[in-house]
Amino acid sequence: MSTLTSSAGQSLKGFRGSLLDFIDDPFFSPELQSVRYIPDGLMVLENGHVREIGAYEQLKDRYADIAIAAYPDMLLMPGFIDTHIHYPQTEMIAAYGEQLLQWLNKYTFPTERKFKDKAYAQTVASMFLDELLRNGTTTALVFAAVYPESVDAFFEEASHRNLCMIAGKVMMDRNAPDFLSDTAESSYRETKELIQKWHLQERLRYAVTPRFAITSTKEQLQLAGKLLQEFPGVYLHTHLSENVDEVAWVKELFPECGGYLNIYDQAGLVGDRSVFAHGVQLTDAEFKRLSEAKSAIAFCPTSNLFLGSGLFKLEQAKSTEYPVEVGLGTDMGAGTSFSLLQTANEAYKVSQLRKQQLSPFKALFLATLGGARALSLDDKLGNFDVGKEADFIVLDMRSTPLMAFRNAEANPTSVEDLADRAFSLVIMGDDRAVRATYIMGELAYERTQ
Ligand code: GUN
Ligand code: ZN
Repeated sequence: MSTLTSSAGQSLKGFRGSLLDFIDDPFFSPELQSVRYIPDGLMVLENGHVREIGAYEQLKDRYADIAIAAYPDMLLMPGFIDTHIHYPQTEMIAAYGEQLLQWLNKYTFPTERKFKDKAYAQTVASMFLDELLRNGTTTALVFAAVYPESVDAFFEEASHRNLCMIAGKVMMDRNAPDFLSDTAESSYRETKELIQKWHLQERLRYAVTPRFAITSTKEQLQLAGKLLQEFPGVYLHTHLSENVDEVAWVKELFPECGGYLNIYDQAGLVGDRSVFAHGVQLTDAEFKRLSEAKSAIAFCPTSNLFLGSGLFKLEQAKSTEYPVEVGLGTDMGAGTSFSLLQTANEAYKVSQLRKQQLSPFKALFLATLGGARALSLDDKLGNFDVGKEADFIVLDMRSTPLMAFRNAEANPTSVEDLADRAFSLVIMGDDRAVRATYIMGELAYERTQ
């Protein structure tokens, strides 16, 4: 009997290259026990899922008959996971000169207005998803705009590409222009309809998405909490404590709230499927509460630097006493790149300014399994464990002349040597390092030159 087909008759595929993924959190376990590296590995897929990984030499006889795509000198990693990004802001990336609140008024709100037009939203969603794949990002937690059409456009495009994406309609019923405002009642009703339409369709998930406390009344936040109760498994996605002026305004708007996070907490929005972007200005008590609630923070270094918001305390989120799940977020368009490699590069520099060291393995963990854990998707995604969905990327550590010069020697054979190479990838790598992106084992993007 041929090994070409499994007992269920489904076809098998193999991918040969250096396999790199994480089986544990290197912030809490010894790094060398957290990382899994197979210098000349074979990953065998069955029906888009990981069936087996191992050393090529050990597996090759058993899989002698299957088609194997060989990527010599390339690194195969799980697809990157972006835990916070805004698709309607694609066209306004690199908007000059402002900090958060002025930036929203001057650039963001006028841009998001365009997404009432579904055809326009579809064009941008398509471009956005192509850009994610070009950068090796296979899953993201995404803000749409306030208009339900913008959510439909996004999920339709994601569905065409068979992507695992989480998104939601922005809810905002005050302190925003009329053309972008909903009401507490309409946001509840429209969100409910969108959840019923999209949540758990194929690989899609819904996130209830109040923009932030400034643009929502207490009533709207309460209704967001009601939706979470009515639809367990749906996510909560919002911004939290990003900028000093924002935090001061929040205090004025909710004088008796007892802190920014507490506003969300009182509305029932702080739980184990809640993802809060930024958290730059969080207090110790808020970190503790996020830890207790098993909520996650999206660390968005390029955005936090671009808008001058500040230096996220990653070491506090990763404390052993009150650990909080953390993923990396590009936060594009306040973030300055779609690349999670570039985002990890800036995360390293933020850590340096805080007198901390973000090792290459910690950075790559945040971009993969850490992100999957932050999004409660680690039963399906984030590494190459048997049974996981095979969204993965092929990375070239010699993708530019300078990287080729820096990494001229043969591929590392030990994990220790790999750390140095991986660091160069984190610091120097970007979209050019992504040779190919596979979704459930199917080629979705390939670099042509
Ligand atoms: N806070 C509220 N809205 C936004 C947004 O669109 N981007 C960022 N970075 N912060 C926000
Ligand atoms: Zn954001």
